[in-house]
Amino acid sequence: MKKETFKFHNGVTIPSIGFGTWQIPNEEAYDSVNMALKNGYTHIDTALAYQNEENVGKAIREFDIAREDVFITSKLPAERKGYQEALDAFNETITNLGVDYLDLYLIHAPWPWNEIGKDCTQGNIDSWKAMEKLYNDGKIRAIGVSNFSVSDLQAILDNCDIVPMANQIPFYIGKDQKDLLEFCEKHDIVVEAYSPLATGQILDSSELKEIADKYGATTAQLAIRYCLDKDTLPLPKSTHEERIIQNRQLDFEISKDDLKTLDKMEDVRK
Ligand code: A2P
Repeated sequence: MKKETFKFHNGVTIPSIGFGTWQIPNEEAYDSVNMALKNGYTHIDTALAYQNEENVGKAIREFDIAREDVFITSKLPAERKGYQEALDAFNETITNLGVDYLDLYLIHAPWPWNEIGKDCTQGNIDSWKAMEKLYNDGKIRAIGVSNFSVSDLQAILDNCDIVPMANQIPFYIGKDQKDLLEFCEKHDIVVEAYSPLATGQILDSSELKEIADKYGATTAQLAIRYCLDKDTLPLPKSTHEERIIQNRQLDFEISKDDLKTLDKMEDVRK
């Protein structure tokens, strides 16, 4: 059986599979999120930068589900660093979504996307202090980061009060992120796996298909189940209902030998 929830270090639980909405345009977001909710997803992941919060929120609000029964994550844009910037961006997000609190709010990346690797340590610390305030004020149930390396995380640990509850990173078969996973485990930081299918690029592998066949699973199901077996929380994205359904049907167990084989695979995106 698959695990149903992960628990953050503050005791808040998060459903173990999230519906990822990166690369779903606002026009398609309503139908996709509606299909996800209809098919049992109770955890939806979005971001201000995805430009789809409006219809993600509308789909959730119009669905027959209580606010407290759906877990909503959004993200502070990578380019907007600083205390006031973070407070303002948060307000934009909850207005877009039409909700009065978030379950999880993440710093989207340690650097702006057009300056990957730039040292923004002070900006991240200032943003984090705003996130701590929002958390302490009860506007967010858990706070975390995304795309943070060990040293980015260490700077937050050294300079702030609250240890991030989550780090959302690219993780899939072939991209093992071993050191980062170890660091997060040591500090009780839940690792969320975005692009668990390597944005779809993993799906052409005949080697993976052969292993998946043994479990009567698809390659996508094998890849998503792998994330759970590595104690990371997968966020698969799809706009097709049959795939949305399939991506959370993961009640099979990958054998130890197959896990070892999968651990040794090369990154398809290298
Ligand atoms: P689509 O949205 O057209 O269904 P990732 O989650 O790693 O970002 O991967 C998302 C990509 O994988 C999208 O292109 C999505 O296509 C595709 N995808 C998602 N689930 C499946 C599935 N079960 N089978 C095949 N392709 C899938």
